[in-house]
Amino acid sequence: MIIENQAMVTEAVEEAFSRVEDPRLREILLALVRHLHGFVREVRLTEREFGEAVRIIADLGQKTTASHNEVMLMAGSLGVSPLVCLLNNGNHGQTETQANMLGPFWRDDQPMCDSGASLVRSATSGPELLVSVSLEDGRGNPVAGAEVDVWHSSPEGLYENQDPKQAEMNLRGRFVSDASGKFQFRSVKPAGYPIPVDGPVGELVRATRRHNFRPAHLHFMVFKPGFKTLISQVYSPDDPNIDSDVQFGVTRALIGNYVRHDKPSDKFAAPWYSLDQRFVLEAGEARRPTAPIRAKVG
Ligand SMILES: [Fe+2]
Repeated sequence: MIIENQAMVTEAVEEAFSRVEDPRLREILLALVRHLHGFVREVRLTEREFGEAVRIIADLGQKTTASHNEVMLMAGSLGVSPLVCLLNNGNHGQTETQANMLGPFWRDDQPMCDSGASLVRSATSGPELLVSVSLEDGRGNPVAGAEVDVWHSSPEGLYENQDPKQAEMNLRGRFVSDASGKFQFRSVKPAGYPIPVDGPVGELVRATRRHNFRPAHLHFMVFKPGFKTLISQVYSPDDPNIDSDVQFGVTRALIGNYVRHDKPSDKFAAPWYSLDQRFVLEAGEARRPTAPIRAKVG
């Protein structure tokens, strides 16, 4: 097609993409062109703004390394990853779900741990935390033999891969649920943390006059064949940013029942916290995602 005016650009691209053989890829590409060209027309994107957009997208890639994923961070900052999550879980967005975003910090080589083990592998200050997890299917039956990854930031707000002072795999572990679908672990209560703002995500945060904090949370991933892999986060209700997460991740279903104990126990000095967390698994395909990071800084 020889293009004669601006409208024909869209026609030409649509005609070209309509020849894509794979029907799903064709559907996605045609919708992408429709919305992207519609967006350019709606805001009447200038040449200078287009140049800025190209720079931002290139920066997202160049900022991404083995230990930091700026693209994933931007997807959360735009609300895209929470939207994808809620559209694909809870009976395809029809019912409440405990699914949540993966986030940029999961590693797929987290060490196996026995129930009751501590995730603390190097000196980490902060109140101690005892977490008791139970897993069940949609009919209330326990789910035994599930592999559950747990990971979280330190009370200073850094994941071990971001922090040379923490030991390899500090505050990370993988547990297996017992015959009653349960396991426990010990750790320290996580704190909220700032997301990095030295790249394009920071430009967006400043332009929208937002703070750059995520409220405190624990990450979970529950993997067992026969069930849709449940990726979740459990948030601390006492965090001051619980209702203004920079990554738009906090849902009502994932505000955890953390209990503060002001008397010491035989294992913990006061104050310490406990959390009983029940996860309900949906039937489906078990599949671990691609890890967004592979290595520790430096
Ligand atoms: Fe996180």
